[in-house]
Amino acid sequence: MSPTAPWWRSAVIYQVYIRSFADGNGDGIGDIAGIRSRLPYLKSLGVDALWINPWYKSPQADHGYDVADYRQIDPLFGTVTEAEQLIEEAHRYGIRVIPDIVPNHTSDQHAWFQAALAAGPGSPERERYIFRSGRGSDGSEPPNDWVSAFGGPAWTRLPDGEWYLHLFAPQQPDLNWEHPDVRAEFESVLRFWFSRGVDGFRIDVAHGLIKHPELPDLPTRGEPTDQRPRQHLDHPHWDRDEVHDIFRTWRRVADEFPGDRCFVAEAWADTPERLAAYVRKDGLHTAFNFDFLMSGWDAKDLRTVIDDSLAMLGAVGAPATWVLSNHDVMRHVSRYGRTTVRRWTVNERYEPQGPLDLELGTRRARAAALLMLALPGGAYIYQGEELGLPEVEDLPESALQDPVWERSGHTTRGRDGCRVPISWSGESAPFGFSPDNASAEPWLPQPADWGRHSAERQTGDEASMLELYRTALRLRREHPSLGDGALTWLDTPTGVLAFLRDPGFACVINLSTEPYRLPDHTTVLLTSGPIEDGLLAPDQAAWLVT
Ligand code: GLC
Repeated sequence: MSPTAPWWRSAVIYQVYIRSFADGNGDGIGDIAGIRSRLPYLKSLGVDALWINPWYKSPQADHGYDVADYRQIDPLFGTVTEAEQLIEEAHRYGIRVIPDIVPNHTSDQHAWFQAALAAGPGSPERERYIFRSGRGSDGSEPPNDWVSAFGGPAWTRLPDGEWYLHLFAPQQPDLNWEHPDVRAEFESVLRFWFSRGVDGFRIDVAHGLIKHPELPDLPTRGEPTDQRPRQHLDHPHWDRDEVHDIFRTWRRVADEFPGDRCFVAEAWADTPERLAAYVRKDGLHTAFNFDFLMSGWDAKDLRTVIDDSLAMLGAVGAPATWVLSNHDVMRHVSRYGRTTVRRWTVNERYEPQGPLDLELGTRRARAAALLMLALPGGAYIYQGEELGLPEVEDLPESALQDPVWERSGHTTRGRDGCRVPISWSGESAPFGFSPDNASAEPWLPQPADWGRHSAERQTGDEASMLELYRTALRLRREHPSLGDGALTWLDTPTGVLAFLRDPGFACVINLSTEPYRLPDHTTVLLTSGPIEDGLLAPDQAAWLVT
């Protein structure tokens, strides 16, 4: 990697799901004070930056993704002053800070939406959102057939007869990005936080901002299969070309500020080409590469994803990013702990079935971490992944809080299982998540055996997931071949992937069912499990000096 390349081309970014990371004030919900108290841990883990899920003032209908005021911190999490202190302290540790920004929708409690409700049909206040009359003779049918990502129709009718659009929960009305007020407001919000020192933003639902002007019904589409490759289909509200104009402007706003500020798009695109369109020179800097996360545990699948991603992003001069888990998907220890792990698609809520083999999932997760951290580009670590936390699949129904649970009529449990407060220390709840004298229990119940995954228990244990991540991140910083750059594949038998990073580094991962002899090397830098007789066991990975 070139020493002058901007930091975000190689960064390892740690995702802080603020509610569940660390609770400083003992109310059972994570907060800014908690993050500040854990900066030494993050430093010793060796990450370059934090992405913090939404911390703005919010009624928390979707845990902060329903923002009522973009210039205030929710009292649950702290204050703007505390946010500024966190940014400054993190910077002192050499860690950058990237908050989430949520431009597709506001909360229904946002002043604009409240004004729109009060002003009534036909008013200019309603033009900042997407209000329409219904279909049918009495307007009692929704304006079109769009569906909410959380289940049910994407439209809600008001007592005055008009309907408003919400691609997510009814408490998250979609903004009208054709309206100049909306564009101006978000540019101002970006400047507000950039001038408070944030190093960039993660852009929520970046692919959703522009809607087809006529709001037509959804197209029918077949899912890709091996016979029918992935292709982009014109969609009335996802990934429309006009969305890039918005981000060209945002890029100019970021460039007004000193230092390398950076955006990362949450953009779910049909193909790698479509994803690459978000990260052109005059657009956003990076985008999450969900294809990696959605790949099966399969050498051919992974290699295709890696090659396609590097080719498409490389063609526009952007670095790749690699992600295994986040707050919206089943934790990968539990995904990989199923005997069948298949590729899944953008429009699917993937809920692996069948018995969980945690040992298998953990072994694969360790190997996947070495793969991810050796690939060219940047990587994301979702809090608790470095502790090897599994998905909590047996949360009692009474504890479930994700709007998906209600909206699906209690047929889909939703995303709470990957959001359980993480385990820091001790043998009983709250496992160091909240202070000892806390006034409330953690907002989601932690499993009784969470202590075996705690950061305290794993620290110093060379065989632990935490020490694997720490060592890998240290080697990654030290080794000039890692991070941004290119890779060269080595010839390997089916089921084994091996590549070189210049100068002098190789990564090998065995996804087959047979042991594999390590290729020529001078030193074994790190392995995901014990190596015997130079053989890499199934579901193991190794980093080598060649
Ligand atoms: C994104 C977030 C998800 C949220 C949704 C609506 O997909 O990652 O957590 O529910 O947007 O804002």
